[in-house]
Amino acid sequence: MNKEEQTDAAIRFVKTGLSSYDSGHDWWHIERVRNLARFINSKENMADPFLLDMTAILHDAADSKFNKHNEPDRYDNIGDFLSDYDMEDIRDEIIEIIINVSFSSRHRSTGITHPVLSVLQDADKLDAIGAIGIARAFNYGGFRNNPIYIPGEINGGRGLSTIGHFYDKLLKLKDMMNTKTGYAIAEERHQILLEFLDRFYSEWKFGIE
Ligand code: ADP
Ligand code: NI
Repeated sequence: MNKEEQTDAAIRFVKTGLSSYDSGHDWWHIERVRNLARFINSKENMADPFLLDMTAILHDAADSKFNKHNEPDRYDNIGDFLSDYDMEDIRDEIIEIIINVSFSSRHRSTGITHPVLSVLQDADKLDAIGAIGIARAFNYGGFRNNPIYIPGEINGGRGLSTIGHFYDKLLKLKDMMNTKTGYAIAEERHQILLEFLDRFYSEWKFGIE
């Protein structure tokens, strides 16, 4: 089986599994992450392109927020897929990268370093900031029926609102980039977050101050 067939099979595998996700975690998130990862790697030349693309395609296929499986068998479906499609040799490597890629799964992190992981983490984080990141955050917040903003919440600990999520997570991502190329893109997208928040607060206070 050639790499193109393996890639097509992975796309089909993921598209089937993603149907129950919120739309911020849809196929287009995967496509954007693939493109970001490919771009970063074209500048940095640090990761094996096939391994990077395969891992990008599969990276959210075991997401804890959407996966009903328990911790130990969450990766079994991905493992079975990789074995079925002649990727037994890279199966454990891919699964270990996927376990470590997610920001929200840092508690599960096994602490590995891997060039594919470095690029993929950057790509996944970049899709959570900038204009797309803002769109995804409000989409996710809506999916959870969270409020858009709770005045005064920010100093009170973890935000429950989507604006609160900017402080909990989104504004921190820029400084978590692994690659120079990722950081350059993150700086621009971070600026978009700041401009959005400025404008949000000024509209919120409109007519009051
Ligand atoms: P990752 O899959 O990169 O580890 P998450 O699954 O936590 O990250 O987040 C995926 C997307 O959902 C991101 O765009 C993130 O900003 C958004 N998101 C996650 N939690 C919240 C939240 N509480 N409020 C708004 N958006 C959220
Ligand atoms: Ni992702």
